[in-house]
Amino acid sequence: HRVALVFGGRSDEHAISCATAASVLRALDRERYAVVPVGITREGHWVLVDDDPEALEIRDGRLPQVEDTGRQVFVPLGGVDHEWTWTGPDGQVGSLGQVDVVFPLLHGPFGEDGTIQGMLELADLPYVGCGVLASAAMMDKHVMKVLFASAGLPVGPYALITDRQWKRDRAAALDAASSLHFPVFVKPARAGSSMGVVKVERPEELEVAVEKARDHDPKVLVEQGIEGREIECGVLGGRGTEPPRVSECGEIVVGGGHDFYDFEAKYLDEANVQITAPADIPDEVRDEVRRVAALAFEAADAEGLSRVDCFVTPRGEVVLNEINTMPGFTPYSMYPQAWAASGVSYPELVDELITLALE
Ligand code: DAL
Ligand code: MG
Repeated sequence: HRVALVFGGRSDEHAISCATAASVLRALDRERYAVVPVGITREGHWVLVDDDPEALEIRDGRLPQVEDTGRQVFVPLGGVDHEWTWTGPDGQVGSLGQVDVVFPLLHGPFGEDGTIQGMLELADLPYVGCGVLASAAMMDKHVMKVLFASAGLPVGPYALITDRQWKRDRAAALDAASSLHFPVFVKPARAGSSMGVVKVERPEELEVAVEKARDHDPKVLVEQGIEGREIECGVLGGRGTEPPRVSECGEIVVGGGHDFYDFEAKYLDEANVQITAPADIPDEVRDEVRRVAALAFEAADAEGLSRVDCFVTPRGEVVLNEINTMPGFTPYSMYPQAWAASGVSYPELVDELITLALE
């Protein structure tokens, strides 16, 4: 099979997507798969890039990015033969050959949010991961909570601040958010990797935090902080009747002066963040997190893969924080580590995801 890996993209999580792509490039079994690496620059140009994982890794605190190679890639919309073409800066035209499946290794808006999924549906190209609706709904932390709550899943208290509310009556919006217990977390509704997220200890600090979140998205969520351990697990499932598979739980422990699991802690400070899988938690808590994870995957109408993030309070209650439909996917990320703890290796996981997409 020919697999197009699409990565980079216009979102703030561009670099994380590159790091994920580097790992998948290394792991793909080249006897079974021919790989077509397609990068999307920060500006949104689709370009054919070299098959060089090293250039895409996070190294010594340097964040990678897709460079514009000038070899522009064109996807056939509504085509039947799935043959992709590219043109070079000197006017040369080339073919990428037939593409059997696309692996959109993109995080955040314009990648994890249903937009590229919609484009691939139009092009009639099979792709790895969630479809249009699940991707779009789960990218938006507000819509996600509404769907989870209506499915009876345990979500924490929050306040929503839409763009219109903020512009019309900022005081009322701040007032509503101030009724939550502090600390709270102010988050852009549609972002990831903790981009634009601020932990706020006092109501007076809310306004500045909301403005900061609004740099990423005009729709903002204020979530009540939940005291508890961060327990996550991976889910893997197809379109068929089989129930989704849920991995062992993993735990994230953040130290070293990070207030919470922020961007720095996630990607630039390996020394102070520990991922333990399987998590050292009582059996009944483990079972409950995995049960909630499977239900969240169903409620989201997810396909392929997702990572479900929960808090476990000191009293042992499980609170569903969120689901990520295209979780970070380096060998050091939680999703593959949770599967490794369940006996599924990184190359096996990649293989399984592609196989599910081709079903
Ligand atoms: N948004 C990042 C990549 C994650 O959820 O892992
Ligand atoms: Mg997320």
